[in-house]
Amino acid sequence: MTDTRPTTLAQENAAILAKDPNWWRQAAVYQIYPRSFADANGDGIGDLPGITSRIPYLAELGVDAVWLSPFYPSALADGGYDVDDYRDVDPKLGTLADFDEMVAALHASGIRLIVDIVPNHSSNRHRWFQEALASPKGSAARDRYLFHDGAGPDGTEPPSDWKSMFGGSAWEPAGDGQFYLHLFAPEQPDLNWANREVRDDFLTTLRFWADRGVDGFRVDVAHALAKDLTYPLRSHDELEEMKLVTDGSHPLWDREELDEIYAEWRAVFDEYDPPRIAVAEAWVEPSRRYRYALPTSLGQAFNFDLLRANFDADEFRAIVDHNIQSVAVTGSSNTWVFSNHDVVRHATRYGLADDPGQEGEVGKRWLLHGGPASELDAALGLRRARAATLLMLALPGSAYLYQGEELGLPEVADIPDAERQDPTFFRSPGVEVGRDGCRVPLPWTTAGSSFGFGADGAHLPQPSWFGAFSVEAEGADPDSTLHLYRRALALRRELQGAEELTWRRHPSGADDVLWFERPGGWQSITNFGASSVDLPEGEVLVTSAPLEDGRLPSATTAWLRG
Ligand code: NOJ
Ligand code: CA
Repeated sequence: MTDTRPTTLAQENAAILAKDPNWWRQAAVYQIYPRSFADANGDGIGDLPGITSRIPYLAELGVDAVWLSPFYPSALADGGYDVDDYRDVDPKLGTLADFDEMVAALHASGIRLIVDIVPNHSSNRHRWFQEALASPKGSAARDRYLFHDGAGPDGTEPPSDWKSMFGGSAWEPAGDGQFYLHLFAPEQPDLNWANREVRDDFLTTLRFWADRGVDGFRVDVAHALAKDLTYPLRSHDELEEMKLVTDGSHPLWDREELDEIYAEWRAVFDEYDPPRIAVAEAWVEPSRRYRYALPTSLGQAFNFDLLRANFDADEFRAIVDHNIQSVAVTGSSNTWVFSNHDVVRHATRYGLADDPGQEGEVGKRWLLHGGPASELDAALGLRRARAATLLMLALPGSAYLYQGEELGLPEVADIPDAERQDPTFFRSPGVEVGRDGCRVPLPWTTAGSSFGFGADGAHLPQPSWFGAFSVEAEGADPDSTLHLYRRALALRRELQGAEELTWRRHPSGADDVLWFERPGGWQSITNFGASSVDLPEGEVLVTSAPLEDGRLPSATTAWLRG
């Protein structure tokens, strides 16, 4: 008889991971933007062996899972969200064998892996799109995408005045009187999800990665796949007016047919034990988010509400309440996030003046100007970021962290125009600087080539002050942001329990203090106000900044027990 008992810690970890179908509910998930994480072969681009080499760092940090942004073959017209082949690894990042090695090493360290899946559009280099361009109008090859005849007297005008999310027209001429739709860059033609072959191919892709041990999927623009392109097309202004429509009838976003698409995905996820999980990136009205989070659909959906909020007690409280109520309806779990590869890092955002009530615009005004230093209070930004993160890590639900935030890394605002990569910058010349500032390769060491990122430079320039935020510098400083994250993530492991919290009222009656209790006597208290307040009774477990004479200072969070 074969002895099937685990013989090594790695096997034990893998066995534990294999058992828990609910692991995602309270997971701390660390997002890796692979080209900017760690470069093992010294070509200036982060790669999969680089990630594998840094797994001990992730394990020490204490995250439960990694979400890996696209690592597929890509010309990088949009940072890898332009996928040439959904079932391979970009040769610049490694091989499928490197991928397998990375998965095994992550699992051996007790860390799960979520990969990004980009179903709304392929790249223009995908073999399907090349075939579509080479095939005639009306062909099966063209039906996999969204081609349309040109408009105007001689058919040379785009079919509508729709704008792409990165600026400019959403239609690109195919060269034979037809145009194809691209909601994002022209190198990202939108796929036709009414086409059975497209649907089946994605099911094959999901199985391909699930079979390789992937634990889940982050679904890019999950609310965009289904479209109604019935002629005549509505105008851009009409679509803008329909933005708040929540009955599933907008021609481009959040349509009813998505339920059917994701029900098919769910059936694939449930073929596995434990079932594979998914989290939807869906920038929809908060009241519509539940559709994607249903157990019959993707199961979880990002809530970007805190990411959009100012550092304000009332805003935070309302957001927490709304989301807890929402998951009570769906049976999902919450998804808290302050930073990702698309937004200004929160250590910088919180150092900027509040945006006056423009949802989704936090930090954008500053970005438009390329970020003049005079508008930024960096120390305040970091202090608030640490307080906000500690609050978030005490909330019920999963916490999505973006690489570098554990270092309190600020946005890099002054990347020279010639070195920028984001299509947002190129398609809105002089208007938006884009997202490169949060994608600069991580500093691992205080000095040396690209601050330890790799042996020969970094694909986006790192500023001279990066060394002070390096893993090496912060590892040596017990008061660093890195140590705060490590402590909080370790303590969080003890914080289990239902999707609930109980608000407490501070005895001083201060409205700008948020104090809540979790099962087991855990308490988190954040002072959003200007002056210090008394701490409640209890053992202080961790604070985001030093206490002042035993009191909780401005812009500080403390965790207590008992
Ligand atoms: C959302 C991704 O997060 C972003 O980086 C990308 O540009 C768009 N989707 C298009 O894929
Ligand atoms: Ca490399």
